[in-house]
Amino acid sequence: MARSALLNVMTQAAMKAGRALTRDFGEVQNLQVSMKGPADFVSNADRRAEEIVFQELSRVRPDWGFLMEERGEIEGRDPQHRWIVDPLDGTTNFLHGIPMFSVSIALERDGQLVAGVIFNPAMDELYTAEKGGGAFLNDRRIRVAARKTLPEGLFGTGIPFLGRGDHAGFLYELRQIMSETAGIRRMGAASLDLAYVAAGRLDGFWEQALQPWDVAAGIVLLREAGGFVTGLSGEKFDHMRGDVACGNEFMHKALVDQLKTAAQKRKRATSTSAETGSA
Ligand code: IPD
Ligand code: CA
Ligand code: CA
Repeated sequence: MARSALLNVMTQAAMKAGRALTRDFGEVQNLQVSMKGPADFVSNADRRAEEIVFQELSRVRPDWGFLMEERGEIEGRDPQHRWIVDPLDGTTNFLHGIPMFSVSIALERDGQLVAGVIFNPAMDELYTAEKGGGAFLNDRRIRVAARKTLPEGLFGTGIPFLGRGDHAGFLYELRQIMSETAGIRRMGAASLDLAYVAAGRLDGFWEQALQPWDVAAGIVLLREAGGFVTGLSGEKFDHMRGDVACGNEFMHKALVDQLKTAAQKRKRATSTSAETGSA
């Protein structure tokens, strides 16, 4: 498969950062058993990976800006182009020695997502996509799964955790979707959740309040693999807002219907408890 010059640049940056992460991942496994634990080491690994991506991309496209998880916004001289980068998606997995993490790089042109590369170095899986050019896993073309009904569907999600997200709302979503589908997975890296939907491994994925760098590259893959994406109640997807519900045409619709039902049930329960004065 011949990759475009743009995808080559992105792939090289992702793989170089991924190789550094692989070395650090080996070290994390040693640090697990130490008293201090690997947390500081992991945030350094994260910053090192971001530095590599930054250096690689700015060397070949010196005028383009960045939106990066650690460094934030870096304006470029070219107002049209911006890289959106998560140097380590799946940090909690990485910290715990679980090989489900990635380097995720997207390109935005005039506010539109036009290319995405996600690399999971531990599994040696490289996902690439460019608008209009299809989506690939290593050198193989990928498509969303063909399954059409919820009972056959395996879905990914993100579970809110300590200090983050709408815990009560998520429980309504979980109750609704787990009783209608073949199963739910919590992978711990949103970029890979999206890549897995693009590759037909998962039938759909939903999560609230993600950041642009969690989703930008995965959305290009998903769309190029024939997937559909919106916000949780079917509103137009906006990568700067970060609410995601996706799947193939059928699963996406069915998922959004279930999420809407969950939201209605929650609303009813909240108004009933307000009327009766219960908590
Ligand atoms: C996290 C992962 C996770 C999602 C979190 C993100 P990080 O990114 O994508 O799956 O549930 O909301 O923050 O912190 O590992 O880069
Ligand atoms: Ca992330
Ligand atoms: Ca991250």
